[in-house]
Amino acid sequence: MPIISTYCKKGGVGKTTYLGYLAHYISTQGKKVLVISADDQNSIFKLFGCGEFVSDQNNMYLEHLLAGQCNPEDIVCEARINMYIIKTLNTDRLSFTLTVKRQEERKLIDTIKGFTKFFDYIFIDFPPSSSRLSEILLDISDSILLVVGLDTLGLDGYINTIQYFVDTDINLEKIKYIVPTGYHPIKLAPKNCLKELKKQAEIYTPNAEITDPICDRSVIKNLQAEGVSIFDEFKMASKFHQKNRDEVEKEWRNDFKKLNLDK
Ligand SMILES: Nc1ncnc2c1ncn2[C@@H]1O[C@H](COP(=O)(O)OP(=O)(O)OP(=O)(O)O)[C@@H](O)[C@H]1O
Ligand SMILES: [Mg+2]
Repeated sequence: MPIISTYCKKGGVGKTTYLGYLAHYISTQGKKVLVISADDQNSIFKLFGCGEFVSDQNNMYLEHLLAGQCNPEDIVCEARINMYIIKTLNTDRLSFTLTVKRQEERKLIDTIKGFTKFFDYIFIDFPPSSSRLSEILLDISDSILLVVGLDTLGLDGYINTIQYFVDTDINLEKIKYIVPTGYHPIKLAPKNCLKELKKQAEIYTPNAEITDPICDRSVIKNLQAEGVSIFDEFKMASKFHQKNRDEVEKEWRNDFKKLNLDK
């Protein structure tokens, strides 16, 4: 079953938001999904209002599973129906272990691949940095969605990511989609950045499809502050906000319908 990742070396571009909503959307289609947070900030938990699972349960991280100290079912948090999340504790330390002990890499890969027997899709949420852990997990991903912010620094993030893949021998063909974020229909700067991104993408990732750009919507920030996903049943306090919420849900649903995650 496919392993799908969102990645970009640039921080704060919307990787976790996109991955979290995509995973939730797929789970509402009756598929069983697992999200692994390879980012030890574990912000995906907050997105779904499960922050207390990170702070209260201190001995149930991916690292404890790898060390044989617990079972897979002990470390998964049921975030929604059909949607489960796993957290990481200290990815720097895990990366160090993976670098100095080669057999740990096999154990990690076998553990993640083992999950594919129980889930229809596995999603991996990455931190913006690079590490041995990220390299291994990007390498076992079937599809990578490269999330690019539509501003000058965001475009640098695209190029830096391509450079990183080349330097560490990660196959650029794994990048199936480029997801531009930070779009605004009436602002010129993101439009120009999108044009530039299309030019660059033609050169470096010609086989990756560029998705419709994701608009910045304040309702998303409001919902995330409440630990509510756009695919949750949730009535906003004001009619105005409710209308925005419904629109955003429709927008994202339509975007996700266009993706082919099995390619
Ligand atoms: N479409 C959107 N509209 C408005 N705000 C958004 C949107 N997508 C993400 N955000 C906000 O932008 C911030 C960063 O988003 P997110 O955490 O998803 O990015 P990230 O790339 O995962 O960040 P990091 O690199 O730190 O992991 C968050 O505050 C989130 O609420
Ligand atoms: Mg993130």
